[in-house]
Amino acid sequence: MRNNACLRLRGRTAARLVSRAVFASVLLAACLMFLASGAAGEPGSQPALLLGAAWYPEQWPESRWDADLQLMEDAHLHVVRVGEFAWSTMEPSPGHYSFAWLARAIRLAEKHHIAVVIGTPTDAPPAWLTSAHPEILRVDAAGHRAEHGGRRQFNYASPEYRVFCATIAGQLAQRFGHDPAVIGWQIGNEYTDESFDPQTRRQFDNWLRRKYGTLDALNRDWTTAYWSQTYDRWDEIPLPTDGGNPGLLLDHRRFVSDTWRSFQQVQIDAIRRYADPRQFITTNIGGLGWSDNWDHYEITQPLDQAAWDDYVGEGHLNVARNAAMHDFARGWKRKIFWVMETQPGSVNWAPINTTLDRGETRAMAWQAVGHGADAVLYWQWRDALNGQEQYHGALVGPDGIPLPIYSEICGIGNEFERASAALRGTKPVAQVAIVVSYDSRWAIDFQPHSKNYDQLQVLLGSYRPLRDERLTVDIVSADAPLDSYKVVFAPSLNVISKELAAHLLAYVTQGGHLLLGPRSGMKDEHDALNIERQPGPMVVPLGGRVEQYYALDGGVPVSGTLGSGSASIWAEQLSKSTPDTQVLLRYGKSNGWLDGQPAMITRPVGQGRITYLGAILNPDLMHRIISWATAAAQIQPEFGAIPANVEVCRRVGASHTVFVVINHGSAAAKILLPAAMHDLLNGGQVGSVELDPQGVAVLSKGTD
Ligand code: GLA
Repeated sequence: MRNNACLRLRGRTAARLVSRAVFASVLLAACLMFLASGAAGEPGSQPALLLGAAWYPEQWPESRWDADLQLMEDAHLHVVRVGEFAWSTMEPSPGHYSFAWLARAIRLAEKHHIAVVIGTPTDAPPAWLTSAHPEILRVDAAGHRAEHGGRRQFNYASPEYRVFCATIAGQLAQRFGHDPAVIGWQIGNEYTDESFDPQTRRQFDNWLRRKYGTLDALNRDWTTAYWSQTYDRWDEIPLPTDGGNPGLLLDHRRFVSDTWRSFQQVQIDAIRRYADPRQFITTNIGGLGWSDNWDHYEITQPLDQAAWDDYVGEGHLNVARNAAMHDFARGWKRKIFWVMETQPGSVNWAPINTTLDRGETRAMAWQAVGHGADAVLYWQWRDALNGQEQYHGALVGPDGIPLPIYSEICGIGNEFERASAALRGTKPVAQVAIVVSYDSRWAIDFQPHSKNYDQLQVLLGSYRPLRDERLTVDIVSADAPLDSYKVVFAPSLNVISKELAAHLLAYVTQGGHLLLGPRSGMKDEHDALNIERQPGPMVVPLGGRVEQYYALDGGVPVSGTLGSGSASIWAEQLSKSTPDTQVLLRYGKSNGWLDGQPAMITRPVGQGRITYLGAILNPDLMHRIISWATAAAQIQPEFGAIPANVEVCRRVGASHTVFVVINHGSAAAKILLPAAMHDLLNGGQVGSVELDPQGVAVLSKGTD
């Protein structure tokens, strides 16, 4: 018996020991999991790299929430954005706030190690508000007042609406401003449409009065003697609905930017009054990143971090365009950003709502991280059973069961977790920059002079060759600090004021190389022509200028010391006015005016150089120009040679560097690494990687 008893005892002891061991290892794994995923909300304990989704608990029975959050946890999602369209659930009637449901949803998310970003619901005011206060509804350019039933029906300039916005934002912040699971706030949703109602018009007139002081000054700077536009009273000045005086158009865009900024500031102030400074405040910028309804630098300046919504829409990932948009978003605040929304396979608003290929969603996620995103969130977790977006891509179907894309996103989540620690505190660091300015974008788009003049394509004309040289590229505002860059490309700086010229010249004289593109410096800050001709205040330092510009409807040969090729869409006849100005390229036979004339000139200035390229050139010749500029500045490629269609992104940390390598091609690719690196996804040291189509490698190496 004893034996039995002993055996049983021994058995029991052994079982106890085994169960203790099992319990201990489960506990250890759980601790690692906990450390890995971090208690939601505590800074530094959540993963550095977050994958997530937009979740709308108000659209589903509460009994379903836990299952959804469990599926999110299983997919290694660590953040959800909630609430940005939930005003009618948060405040069912005036002054009656109902936040308990949201608090329960947040607690549940926390239980699943999922952090929460709360969106303020000001993009879609509730029916009780707009029916009681129709004055807060937006009026479009045709004079139609918006109605309830959609979204973006509010007037961004309405002081009455701002009171409601501040109140709901404040109420939310009072309730969740110190909630450990809430890590941040999103103000509204994709600021889009301005309003053309009489009240907004008066605000615009007052904005102009504050800016110009006198009508004389405005009439002078807008040259209103032209077409007898002269204004005698401020209230004669219209809100431009269909073209107009370039000075008026430019100031209206600035007014729109200022108005969105103050719309946003009202809510920032309301949240900051109650919320823990640990909680960041951002907004999600739509318009596929490049939209120019308003100035993205101005709007993101008061925010803690920038975030944009990255959609492909129809077709497949345009690698260069999307990479440039990430670099553009990173440049808004010149720091790490979030991709607050991206498509889980497909959208519902494109002409043809195609689905990304298998693996393409993963490649897109890692491209975002490679260019400086620390979070990628899918729109959306699950499509509402009814409403305008039933066909949008999602992770879970109407039956609550995961859709095919869910497995790919699980894989991304898993990889993010594995690479997260190595990516913490790292960021892209660039030796070169491309500068943009909204004044210049608006000024050219108000008068493109050629329907084929696409400023994004002109920008990509410099961007692609720089990326082909495996260089990180910052895209920043023209008035940003530039000293850290060896070469600055300014593809379309149409508006150059005296202040901006001084800023650019300071960069050059201290050793930088500024490469100005076509249409540079044609206009001053009032969108009036610079009397010096192009590039305006830069004519003297350049030692040359533009004699005449030509919109082209065909190609023009171009050749010189940097090679030969052709110009299309736009060409400018340049001239030089000083002996040390060098002609690098000339036009060949064409319209008789350009024949043999300079197309590109350069001049040393101070310790740096200014170069002017007066034409849109074919890609090969642009590559030669970029290589000339980077070689002259002794810029070192960040990575060795790579096969075509392979993208390399670098993120630099204090002690190590991480490379994200993506094969965007349709054939497998072998990449030889410039040094042995640690494979963060598969483990081990590697000297090369073999990537299938859409394949990704994430590699780290200690800093030399
Ligand atoms: C935008 C909006 C979301 C949703 C998606 C659909 O980005 O912010 O609310 O409408 O588009 O793609």
